[in-house]
Amino acid sequence: MRYNSFNQIHKGLRAMLYEAALALQHADLSDAAEGEEALQRLEEVLYLFDSHAHHEDQFFNEPLEQINPEVATLFEQEHKEDHRLATVLYDLISQWREEKTAAGRGITGRNLFYAFNEFIAFNLCHMNKEELVLNEALWKVYSDEEIKATEQALVRQTPPDKMMRYAKWMIRGCNRVELANWLTEVKLGAPPELLMVLLKLAEEQLTPHRFAAVKESVNAAAVPAD
Ligand SMILES: [Fe+2]
Repeated sequence: MRYNSFNQIHKGLRAMLYEAALALQHADLSDAAEGEEALQRLEEVLYLFDSHAHHEDQFFNEPLEQINPEVATLFEQEHKEDHRLATVLYDLISQWREEKTAAGRGITGRNLFYAFNEFIAFNLCHMNKEELVLNEALWKVYSDEEIKATEQALVRQTPPDKMMRYAKWMIRGCNRVELANWLTEVKLGAPPELLMVLLKLAEEQLTPHRFAAVKESVNAAAVPAD
């Protein structure tokens, strides 16, 4: 099986969508304080999705332009559509904040809810397509080692505080084995401080049972002697 560079980050992004969607359904959007809390969650979703799309363009689609223009253009176009859907949401968020009455917030809130559902539907299909079509194109021209190197370059370019915002959702979105493999790689190849930070984040984000299972696997992995 070839290396799927999108698996972990896309699981994190999907977890974000699912949890934000439910928060939006639970919020009484006619209520200023309750609505504001849900909308701030949406803003975080939009910010992290937009930044992710730019990274994919820079590190995967643009280098593919000369080799497979059809696939590169397809995904660059989809990122434009994604950006358009996000712009609709940003406009509705501003409009909601300007509403002076509960009824006005209720109506704009409902439009916002429908617009967010469209954003979710588009992105769920888009991420599937990247893992099926884009991966296929990448696998034809790059080795797994090259794809991993590109992924590492992408991570290195991301500021640490932003990386932690993604990491929170990757931890919430991935299964036990994926988390154990990820943190073991960190243990074996990164400074010990990073492992400590990620383990603390995992302890905050996972149920005690899931965290204990992940930690046990990471502890079992031996660090090679110098
Ligand atoms: Fe994408």
